[in-house]
Amino acid sequence: MSYSTRPIGVLDSGIGGFSVVRQVQKLLPEEDLLYFGDGAHIPYGNHAKETIVDMARYMFQFMERQGVKALLVACNTISCVITQCESAVTCPVFNAVQAGADAVSKLKVDKVGVISTVFTHNCRIYPKIIQAQSPRKLVVLSCGCPDLARLVEHSLGDPAGMALVEDNLRQELDHMVWEDKVDCCVLGCTHYPLVADRIQRLYPGLRLIDPAEEMARALRAHFTRGGLSNPRKSPGTLTIYTTGAVAEYALRARQVGLERVASVEYYPPMELS
Ligand code: DGL
Repeated sequence: MSYSTRPIGVLDSGIGGFSVVRQVQKLLPEEDLLYFGDGAHIPYGNHAKETIVDMARYMFQFMERQGVKALLVACNTISCVITQCESAVTCPVFNAVQAGADAVSKLKVDKVGVISTVFTHNCRIYPKIIQAQSPRKLVVLSCGCPDLARLVEHSLGDPAGMALVEDNLRQELDHMVWEDKVDCCVLGCTHYPLVADRIQRLYPGLRLIDPAEEMARALRAHFTRGGLSNPRKSPGTLTIYTTGAVAEYALRARQVGLERVASVEYYPPMELS
């Protein structure tokens, strides 16, 4: 297999990375994608740092064995510990937090809101990168949501579950939107773009930033620069591996509109001590 025909790896603690796959399939339809969702261990955002690094490295090592030509860390929580994971792969790595911060740097805004997992929030990674990249003084407000990713993971298509998602969104976001009046809101967990329609319905004027779009653009630019795009003229496929429930992942892939799913397979989870 020549280097350019190798697949692109995408990983997340769960189905959140499907929001990134969706954008990559739109922008780079000829590429093959390999997805890993660690459904057995979600939510990552409530775990200790050392555990997140171990679980993430387990997925990175899987991707290295698969010989991916680029790896998309479609998980903001893992993006916070990226420097401790990168050595597990030899290919270029793109992470969601950098993409989200890059997307903000292209906007004319003064007050940025970020919603994320508790771990990402506690790392203060978004405020640090956004402020470091901005020539102007920006206010960055961040909010950590302990339950939202898990609720999204298991509630798509279920009216009662989605009502809980909406209640949770109101609880976490009302203050930032109505009191703090942020100019935009970064969806700093890849699960949240999967319910962007709900968020927009609750807050119609709020500008939402989905880092997935920027990630897909950065990947395309990298392939174009390096002559690494898959030269085939037909559309590529998506192979999904999960440590969680195979049937649920197959259903979620359909619900979020992923295309050309070749197979959904079980992979044993890392044992947590
Ligand atoms: N989707 C993940 C993220 O972007 C995290 C969800 C979780 O496992 O807590 O941070």
